[in-house]
Amino acid sequence: MKTEVRVRGKDFTGYRIVGAIAALLLALVFAWQLFELFDDDNLTVPEVRWGAAGDDSGVAGVLADDLITARSRLQDERYRTGPAPDGEVPANALGNEIFLTDEPLPRDTTLTRSWAMLDEDTGQMLQERQRVVGRSSLPYANAELFERPFARDWRLGLADFATHLGAIAIIGFSLLLALILAIRGRVPILEGRAHRTVKRFNLFERATHWMTSFSFIMLAITGVSIAYGDTLIRPFGDELLGATGWISTWGHPIFAPPFALGIVFMAVMWTMRNLPSRLDLHWLSKGGGFFSDDGHNPPARKFNAGQKLIFWSAILGGITMVLSGLTLMFPYYWLDLEGMSWAMLIHAILGVLLIAIFIGHIYIGTVGMQGAFWAMWGGNVDRNWAKEHHELWLAEIEDGKQGKA
Ligand code: HEM
Repeated sequence: MKTEVRVRGKDFTGYRIVGAIAALLLALVFAWQLFELFDDDNLTVPEVRWGAAGDDSGVAGVLADDLITARSRLQDERYRTGPAPDGEVPANALGNEIFLTDEPLPRDTTLTRSWAMLDEDTGQMLQERQRVVGRSSLPYANAELFERPFARDWRLGLADFATHLGAIAIIGFSLLLALILAIRGRVPILEGRAHRTVKRFNLFERATHWMTSFSFIMLAITGVSIAYGDTLIRPFGDELLGATGWISTWGHPIFAPPFALGIVFMAVMWTMRNLPSRLDLHWLSKGGGFFSDDGHNPPARKFNAGQKLIFWSAILGGITMVLSGLTLMFPYYWLDLEGMSWAMLIHAILGVLLIAIFIGHIYIGTVGMQGAFWAMWGGNVDRNWAKEHHELWLAEIEDGKQGKA
């Protein structure tokens, strides 16, 4: 028989108002993103217009199109907004003439040279014997070098799919959380605080958690500014884009080792507690008790099924990010061009998905649930919180038994 539990916790109306305001703002950004998704500025597959402007005879092959101009600019701007935007323009840099022309370019064009001289690895890639040649209808001599069908799919995946997926996943999921906060409100400790605490995480566990999460957040910020800088930062000036690009390009690999180390420590400390068990199915079928405040949350041990999903996302997602990231840091050491392309796609797409997932985790660990944050901050939780969310774990501790998953 169900008993009514009177909510003795605080009234969290303020949180709901904040949630509603955040939801409104995020809805606007989300709508803008949807508009961007369906508008016509596809830079990946440029439209090919045959014939000079206004001439549809189909005779002269002219590709001078706004879109291909925009795409060419993306490729030539590296020296202008890159690490040293004020530095001298390298002799081999592209000028404003770009390569939009109906005349075939000479084979040893500035474009090829500037790409070939970027670094040793890229240079090697362009050496005659290692060339990967595709098909092209573009009217310049070396076009086949850059126009491979797989490269086009790859650009489509990276520039269009990952970009929009990222924006929609991150903004859309944040919007969902803001709506949950506005409508459902903060999950309270139903019986109010007991003012007796229970030890939940020791110092080493907490230090590991904060090292990993701080590194993850820095990786996310630097990664997003590398991937989306052109959209998010360029409107504030090329100089700023150059500076953030420089900081991010260095910062991103710097935060990777503490993240990787944290993932290893977490795996060692928490794997046994996060193995799947039959309880998890029951917990999931009840939605973790998240949608009602009737005082009957499904029972859980130390980690409930939701937390186990977070744990495995951190471990499996983290390992994949570290391995694909290492591959990108050492290009062509163990993968060929196609392998590198896959590494980049996986790193980009998984990266934005993990950011969305961990926004959910941060939400529930802070504003989403009363009392959760202190588990990871001071290491102790209120006994009533433990009773409401992890009753089997509390029983284990109080009976002095060894824990299971
Ligand atoms: C500001 C950011 C973050 C906050 C406030 C936060 C908060 C918390 C809290 C309160 C817990 C303990 C929950 C409990 O008592 O059971 C926790 C656990 C955990 N956190 Fe975080 N966290 C943050 C970021 C991250 C990040 C970025 C990662 C991974 C890359 C991460 C991975 C984990 C894992 C694996 C656990 C154990 C499983 C779980 O409880 O979900 N956290 N976090």
